[in-house]
Amino acid sequence: MRNRIEWRDAHVLESWLIADDVRHIVFDVNGPVPRFDPGSHINVRVEINGAAAVRTYTALPAPPGRLAVAVKRHPHGRGGSRHMWGLVPGEAVRLTLPENRFELGWRAGHYLLIAGGIGITPIFGMAQALAARGASLRLVYAARTPGRMAFADDLRDLLGERLVLCDSAAGDRIDLAAEFAALPADAEAYLCGPIGMLEDAKAAWTAAGRPAGRLRYESFGDSGRFAEQPFTVDILNRGLTVQVPADRTLLEALLGAGVEMIADCRRGECGLCAVTVLEADAPIDHRDVFLSAGQKAENRRMCACVSRLTSGRALIDTGYRP
Ligand code: FES
Repeated sequence: MRNRIEWRDAHVLESWLIADDVRHIVFDVNGPVPRFDPGSHINVRVEINGAAAVRTYTALPAPPGRLAVAVKRHPHGRGGSRHMWGLVPGEAVRLTLPENRFELGWRAGHYLLIAGGIGITPIFGMAQALAARGASLRLVYAARTPGRMAFADDLRDLLGERLVLCDSAAGDRIDLAAEFAALPADAEAYLCGPIGMLEDAKAAWTAAGRPAGRLRYESFGDSGRFAEQPFTVDILNRGLTVQVPADRTLLEALLGAGVEMIADCRRGECGLCAVTVLEADAPIDHRDVFLSAGQKAENRRMCACVSRLTSGRALIDTGYRP
């Protein structure tokens, strides 16, 4: 696992469609690229409406000296995928070497891998690594339509009957309770998907009486229950009001306004960016996996890097004391 973010220059080598709404992009990186484990991610500098921003993507298996990502197009997103889809071969980019916060343990007797939509990206590398070691595994992969299932053909070839595809448009659903009930005691489950799937899985895992540490998961960080809308925050003790446009996160808007904030993962996992919500006139779209279901129901805290107000205005406390 890498602990230090190291930025590198790179350029786009190739970019092609691997599903209806997913592009596979390969970068040639200046300097050596250290070996990395499945589940690792990289950060890429993007430009959104003329402003610099950073987006995080799973580092896919790639030849030496290269890094590869798969990017889902979000037509109503904040603009990161638009930038990435617009990259052409030869174009210069800045990116970080892989680091891993979604580590695969190697000691389980059996592995259940679960992916929802573009959540297949870390799961794909894990399936390859586990299959190469001859591990016992099963992969359940749900997407809205078969055309949106990136890597489905590769996975069919790799896993055969150990792969289960769920076509949501045809009414297929992952039966999480049944999947967990069928696991041997020494199994681990790894899941990446939209926030609703993660919350359902955590609840089903707990209901099945399984040890919390054997369910590992990663979120997209941008898979909310509501479309992004602009909203406004007033900041306690700062005499400051900050507008958060639809294409920026609360964290980006606060930092842009000069508010001191601590942040690390920027994907709703570490909780460092959480602010206290004192009043809000609209629901909070919690998109993190750090706060518990109970904390989210209370609506007293929100992770500024991913979560947002659905509209309207809130009074927040960022911890600043004059
Ligand atoms: S920076 Fe980690 S949850 Fe926001």
